[in-house]
Amino acid sequence: MPLTVDHVDYAYSFQKPVLHDVSLSISENTIMGLIGPNGSGKSTLIKVILDLLQTQGGTIRIDGQKNSTRSAKMSSIYLSSNDYLPEFLTGEEYIRFMHGLYAEPLDMQVLVGHFDRYSMGGRHRDLIEDYSHGMRKKLQLIAAFMLERRLTVIDETLNGVDIESVKIFEKDVRSLAKDGRSVLLCSHDFGVLENVADDVAVLIQGVLVFQGDLGSVNKDYGNLSVLASEYIQSVGVE
Ligand SMILES: Nc1ncnc2c1ncn2[C@@H]1O[C@H](COP(=O)(O)OP(=O)(O)O)[C@@H](O)[C@H]1O
Ligand SMILES: [Mg+2]
Repeated sequence: MPLTVDHVDYAYSFQKPVLHDVSLSISENTIMGLIGPNGSGKSTLIKVILDLLQTQGGTIRIDGQKNSTRSAKMSSIYLSSNDYLPEFLTGEEYIRFMHGLYAEPLDMQVLVGHFDRYSMGGRHRDLIEDYSHGMRKKLQLIAAFMLERRLTVIDETLNGVDIESVKIFEKDVRSLAKDGRSVLLCSHDFGVLENVADDVAVLIQGVLVFQGDLGSVNKDYGNLSVLASEYIQSVGVE
């Protein structure tokens, strides 16, 4: 199993708990969409999954290994919701650095191809400092698509990305979720999720209120926004 989250709790110090007994799992070759209102704990859950914050209860396994192990870290890649990247590197240097972290050889032809496809042709030699918000997001996506980890976790990385590139992303993320690899995709863009997700999980006030496959969501609710609003109403947040 690329990811299993088992009865996980989390609280930032001295504050009320943010995650309550969260359990979820992602099977092989699966894209799971994670949705929920702002402040519901999605980014916290993602950071706990990647061991950037330590669980205070429960266990998390990535590719069968505890998330704190080196093997789990080598099996996963995290695209954060902010775009703090090393400004003093070029796009190419960043991709090279990421390949170094994962001890993977860099294929320059593939790199150049990705920059072209994401309408950044030739810009790999420019400093990240000069990249727009959308280009920074696309750079992170290119790294993830090149490194093809067993688990890719994307936290709202599509904000600010142009529509043409979103379409290419949809194609690339589908081909990433093959050969045993899976993706956890947190997004407010229900359109994208409806196009790519196999499964969906809904987190509200730190509680995982729903986990199921998109086919049955469509059958039972019609679409994702109906599902989301029904659960949001049922717990009384707006
Ligand atoms: N570093 C932090 N310290 C204290 N509280 C935090 C911190 N980060 C997030 N929170 C709180 O945890 C809750 C969940 O936040 P977050 O995981 O960012 O939600 P989401 O990603 O779903 O919008 C919110 O109430 C937020 O204010
Ligand atoms: Mg968030």
